[in-house]
This record gives sequence, C-alpha cells and structure tokens, in this order.
Amino acid sequence: MQDATQGRFITLEGGEGAGKSTAATFIRDWLRAQGRSVTLTREPGGSPLAEAIRNVVLGNWAEGMTAETEVLLMFAARAAHLSATIWPALARGEDVICDRFVDASWAYQGEGRGVPAERLVELETYVLKGFMPQLTLLFDLPPELGLARAKNRGDVNRFEAETMAFQERVRAAYLQRAFTAPERYAVIDASAPLADVQAAVVAVLEQRF
Ligand code: TYD
Repeated sequence: MQDATQGRFITLEGGEGAGKSTAATFIRDWLRAQGRSVTLTREPGGSPLAEAIRNVVLGNWAEGMTAETEVLLMFAARAAHLSATIWPALARGEDVICDRFVDASWAYQGEGRGVPAERLVELETYVLKGFMPQLTLLFDLPPELGLARAKNRGDVNRFEAETMAFQERVRAAYLQRAFTAPERYAVIDASAPLADVQAAVVAVLEQRF
C-alpha cells in the first residue's frame, strides 16, 4: 500500500436513492471552502479500468450473474480504483470522497447475496491491506422511500430492481456495521429535507475534522 496518511478518505454509503451523490458534491464544496484539495470518486468505478468493470458488473446479462462473479468483480474494480485513483490522490495530500466503498460489498454481496463473511474478510484483507476510510457517512432511509426517489431518476440498475426484502437486508447490514464501528461511521437521517441532511453532514464534518 502506498502512503495514504496525508489526505482524508471519506466514504458515503446507503441504500438506493439516499441522496449520496448530492451529498458528495456538497461535501466536496465544503472541504474546498476549507482550502482542501478534493478528489470525488465512486464505486464500482473511479478509474478507467474500474469503470469498465462497472459496466460489466452492473450490466444485465441473459445468463445471469452469480454471487461469486459479482463479489469478485466488485473487489477487482476496487483494487484498480485504489491503485490508480484513491491511494495516489491521498499520497498527494488530497482528501478523497468516495460514493460507496467496501461497506457496500458487506451490505449488498454479504447480506444481500449471502456471500459468507469469511470470504469477504479474505477479499478485504487481500485488496485493502488494512486500509479503511477515516469517516463513513451512512445515509439511512426506508427502502420504499429510496426506491421511489431512484425510480424518479429513470435508470433502474440490477440492485434497484431487487426485492424489498433484499433492500431491507442491505439497510439492516449497513446499520449493524455502523453500530459496531461508531468511531468510523456517522448515520445521517436521509429521509429528512435536504437542508436538514446538509446541516447534519456539516455537523459531522466539523466534529470529526
Ligand atoms: P449506482 O447507479 O452508482 O447506484 P447508487 O446511485 O445507488 O450508488 O450503482 C451502484 C450499485 O452497485 C448500487 O446499486 C450498489 C451496488 N454495489 C454493490 O453491490 N457492491 C459494491 O461493493 C458497490 C461499491 C456497489
């Protein structure tokens, strides 16, 4: 792993339609106003190779996609993203804001698809090498609300098309992870009006940094 100690690594997580992308640009602008250099990126994707893997893993394949293929592609994209984008930006002293990261694999592939925790630990150890975000903002809201918002956007991906039971498992997994790692996580009520969500985000940033 490269020296990634200079910049801060902030990840945004949550179910579908939680408002992460809006929050990501808001946080970028807030950090820049503090004089920080900021890289805004996303997963799956965030480098040319990782974006190519994104197209594969989010694609609708007639033959379907097994949980094994899905989780390996997510981590393959993450390995490329870390080496090409995240670690170099942090080493340059930039803050990195990432729309989804490894917690999404625990929630979606782990709890959602049933990939065993020991397999996720192996992949996480192999790909992340102990590297983790300093701060993870979990934008939490009831799945039916999030899906209604996501559908308004138009494009529905394979995960958004999943059952309500799947979305509930994803939400529960995120909340459980936040509960067990409070020093890294902050839970934001994403069902609140935008101004309230942004105020909550600023409060967390001011407290943690
Ligand atoms: P995207 O259109 O970016 O969704 P959103 O706007 O909700 O973030 O699609 C990313 C999808 O990939 C999202 O539905 C969650 C899923 N995903 C995983 O299943 N595992 C992962 O490790 C990551 C990073 C994303």
